[in-house]
Amino acid sequence: MEAIARAHTNIALIKYWGKRNSQLFLPTNSSLSITLDHFYTETKVQFSDQFEKDSLLLDGNQAADKEIVKITAFLNHVRNLAGTKTFAKVTSVNHVPTAAGFASSASGYAALAAAASKALQLDLTGTELSALARQGSGSASRSIFGGFVEWQKGDNTDGTDSFATQVLDEQAWNVSVLSVVVEAGPKSVSSRDGMQRTVETSPFYEGWLATVEEDLKLMKEAINDRDFTQLGEIAEANALKMHATTLGAKPPFLYWQSATLDVMQKVMELRQQGLEAYFTIDAGPNVKVLCEPENEQMIKEKLAALSSVRDVIVCHPGPGIQYLSDWNG
Ligand code: ADP
Ligand code: DP6
Repeated sequence: MEAIARAHTNIALIKYWGKRNSQLFLPTNSSLSITLDHFYTETKVQFSDQFEKDSLLLDGNQAADKEIVKITAFLNHVRNLAGTKTFAKVTSVNHVPTAAGFASSASGYAALAAAASKALQLDLTGTELSALARQGSGSASRSIFGGFVEWQKGDNTDGTDSFATQVLDEQAWNVSVLSVVVEAGPKSVSSRDGMQRTVETSPFYEGWLATVEEDLKLMKEAINDRDFTQLGEIAEANALKMHATTLGAKPPFLYWQSATLDVMQKVMELRQQGLEAYFTIDAGPNVKVLCEPENEQMIKEKLAALSSVRDVIVCHPGPGIQYLSDWNG
């Protein structure tokens, strides 16, 4: 009873920011992302009656107890679906930095959901798999699919209608996402804690909720029309609004560092010079820059020349879940 799966990370153009039910990972708003070709996780799951508890070997290291607690809570959902109590050995390799604002939790839980459900021979549809992955990390629901992906927030209290669907496959529109790694320490507030604090205490959260569905509508229009300018403008504005909510939280917090601002200002400057680029930022100091493929090399060079930039990794829309027959990890 074992299976191996690969899942790619994703970057949200319309952010998931806030839960209406923390236990079921039900969001307050719908979101939309691009699955990225460059960053991914490979996970092998083995179930056996010989195991006395669940275990996780992540990048060659036995995971700490608090990680096992999270993995076990997630695997219990899969075990419930399959009607078994058997423990699992999970082996995983992140081809993405872990817990550094590159969405390893998205690819990590999507790969785990796929490998665990396949190992237990649950024949889940894409939407069922997405709803399962959601219960490990919200953004993981979107990493089940390739290309442009929307996670519909759903209305049901039991979460049965809260899952992602593909808007456009990875071949349909080639947009470049430059992943800009800045000189920065680890993030001090996780996305999970950050969104909760914002929902509970920020007076600006109402402004977020009042406009995010309109942003999503305009983003879907931009994707449908292959209108890069509209995609970039909406993505940048939506990210700024998300980050603005954190400034009103109690206590307030900010994911940006001075290097983050250097990149943001450079992107605005490039735009003024006629080189079209837009930024988006998740819960951390690193920046993702959106541009069209014909400009990616030029923009990469300009960003890499900033003294506060450590690396620029060029990504494009990538695939959804893949099942592997051999373990390379
Ligand atoms: P990131 O920006 O990398 O998503 P988070 O702090 O949001 O940072 O998520 C990192 C957490 O996701 C890890 O501490 C771990 O709990 C979980 N995670 C990351 N990679 C994996 C993996 N391959 N398998 C299972 N869980 C993982
Ligand atoms: C800013 O999916 O990491 O990256 O559901 O609590 O695991 P949990 O949160 P997570 O949050 C992602 C927040 C974001 C925006 C996004 O990816 O949509």
